[in-house]
Amino acid sequence: MNQPLKGKLALVTGSGRGIGRTIALKLASQGADIIVNFFRHRQAAEKTAEDIQAMGVKTKVIRANVGDPTKIDGMFDIIGNDFGYLDILINNAASGVGRSAMDVDVKAWDWTMDINAKALLLCAQRASKLMEGRGGKIVSISSLGASFVLPTYAVVGVSKAALEALTRYLAIELAPKSICVNAVAASAVETEALKFYIKEQLMPDTRQPTPVGRMVIPEDIANLVAFLCSEEAFMIRGQTIIIDGGTSIAPFLAVREEGSQ
Ligand SMILES: NC(=O)c1ccc[n+]([C@@H]2O[C@H](COP(=O)([O-])OP(=O)(O)OC[C@H]3O[C@@H](n4cnc5c(N)ncnc54)[C@H](OP(=O)(O)O)[C@@H]3O)[C@@H](O)[C@H]2O)c1
Repeated sequence: MNQPLKGKLALVTGSGRGIGRTIALKLASQGADIIVNFFRHRQAAEKTAEDIQAMGVKTKVIRANVGDPTKIDGMFDIIGNDFGYLDILINNAASGVGRSAMDVDVKAWDWTMDINAKALLLCAQRASKLMEGRGGKIVSISSLGASFVLPTYAVVGVSKAALEALTRYLAIELAPKSICVNAVAASAVETEALKFYIKEQLMPDTRQPTPVGRMVIPEDIANLVAFLCSEEAFMIRGQTIIIDGGTSIAPFLAVREEGSQ
């Protein structure tokens, strides 16, 4: 089996569930040892770790709220003590408040920005020290809402825009250390979170097929993340790669029905 990431250590934030879990499993399938970070759902994180271990790689579960700088420090202290190095940081964990800009209060703004944007800064600062002398990869998960206006997505969209801008700064600052920094911006993916928000009417139903005929699925994102973690992607720096089946370049086209030619 081709295992290009054998011997590498990856931290995937928010990898107990959703897209993060799929990314963690993908990197593990390529031979990487995985640190599974979670915040609220320990059982899900332990299940992910169990599934990863069954692939024959090492794994460790660490609880940390990435919106809290002291908890980020605690997580990296554990990684430093237990492993002493890190090769890949996947900045996937996200949260947010679904409101229009006029309804965003200070608490909602700070909560969302801390988890979605500040966490990349603080994690990258600590991760880059553990990547010293080894090179490394940092990939963040963004969304189309960073560049396009989506209903009730104001503060999350702004946090993702900050994430993408920070990706560019980090890419240049960390290039001399051979650390590649990039991001992936996806259109809607049907995770538990999206279903919950739609069911509770916290956001409009954005589930619709792309021009390709289906929605983006977590595996699409995981495949792209794995490519960005590969040596083939070495010269891609500071980019946010859109993965949306063409949705953003064809906003006025009627979408194709699922399965149509
Ligand atoms: N789903 C979509 O339509 C879509 C589209 C574009 C981009 N994205 C992006 O893809 C990424 C994953 O989204 P998803 O849909 O998989 O989300 P999800 O199903 O809501 O999962 C969120 C994950 O983040 C973790 N998390 C949340 N707050 C955290 C915190 N403060 N500290 C540490 N972990 C935290 C959660 O862990 P616990 O459960 O343990 O708390 C969970 O594992 C996000 O960056 C999201 O913005 C999603």
